[in-house]
Amino acid sequence: MSNSEGKKVVLTCAQPTGRLHLGNYLGAVRNWVDLMEGNECYFGVVDMHAITIPYSPANLRANVYECAAQYMACGLDPEKCNLFLQSSIIGHAELAWILGCICPIGALERMTQYKDKSRKHKDALNSGLLYYPVLMAADILIYDADIVPVGEDQKQHIELTRDIAQKFNNTYSDTFKLPEAVIPKAGARIMSLQDPSSKMSKSDPNQNGTLYITDSPDVLRKKIMSAVTDSESDVRFDPESKPGVSNLMNILEAVSGAGFESIERDFAGKGYGDFKKAVAEALIEKLKPVRERYLELREDKACIESALARGNSAAQRRANRLMSKIYRKVGFLNIEKRQ
Ligand code: AMP
Ligand code: TRP
Repeated sequence: MSNSEGKKVVLTCAQPTGRLHLGNYLGAVRNWVDLMEGNECYFGVVDMHAITIPYSPANLRANVYECAAQYMACGLDPEKCNLFLQSSIIGHAELAWILGCICPIGALERMTQYKDKSRKHKDALNSGLLYYPVLMAADILIYDADIVPVGEDQKQHIELTRDIAQKFNNTYSDTFKLPEAVIPKAGARIMSLQDPSSKMSKSDPNQNGTLYITDSPDVLRKKIMSAVTDSESDVRFDPESKPGVSNLMNILEAVSGAGFESIERDFAGKGYGDFKKAVAEALIEKLKPVRERYLELREDKACIESALARGNSAAQRRANRLMSKIYRKVGFLNIEKRQ
């Protein structure tokens, strides 16, 4: 039990990549909404992570608003959680530098996300991309977080965070709590509708494979109806030999709560067409209020700014507590305070 009121401190972040897709929603944001009750939550829009790959400043700025609007539309209530912008908080970059000085380069080179992204951005490979997980460790440790809800793909980064925290504790005496990753079971890994062997992603070259939470019902329907399946006709959960159908079952389970067995029973003897229609309608129904709220919020910049301003000041207060302790431990003088 962690904060002064005995609540757990929950921290997670996501990059302002513009539009949230269904993988982000089911694998991440939906679970953050559930965690708001009864915990002290910090949800960060990590714009400093977003500049590790080629980008345009104007797009980044617009994406921060877009991203915050979508989080709030998904149910992150600024009255119940602290929605903050990473670059506004003093401490993330400072702590990342300190942690980088105890983190072996080899550990960073082993990160799967680094290997993937460095392959993709061969021509513009910068050290920020390698350093990314250290900044992520700082994001987490600076808040002394108990719980970090993430999708499965971030597990390796959380393990590295724990290793770095442990090493800091061993080197400088006990300072950081070792945070726990919380990875949801259903919907943890949503695959592309067009290539179910790869993750649903914003950067998928075939955008018909990616369902965005702000897609109109017509677009959602179209994408689901043209999802890749297989040459059989039975709706059965078998990710190995039926990855397309299993992915759609994952989606249906996550949005409707129906178990795989009941889905199999409901669609026994029916074709993929009926099944896809059911998946599409269940998803459209689930996303309807989200899309409506998003369309309102995107017209209301002031509302987004005031939510972020409130979240930022709460996040800064919490970050300050640990940063002064960390500075002292690593041997940095706090001259200001002594005057
Ligand atoms: P990203 O858009 O990569 O910054 O991811 C934001 C959050 O969504 C992270 O917690 C990811 O683990 C999660 N996530 C991203 N893609 C997927 C996916 N296809 N399935 C499930 N979760 C995902
Ligand atoms: N690396 C995460 C992702 O790509 C985003 C992230 C940055 C994050 N800092 C974090 C997630 C801290 C959880 C906690 O999804």
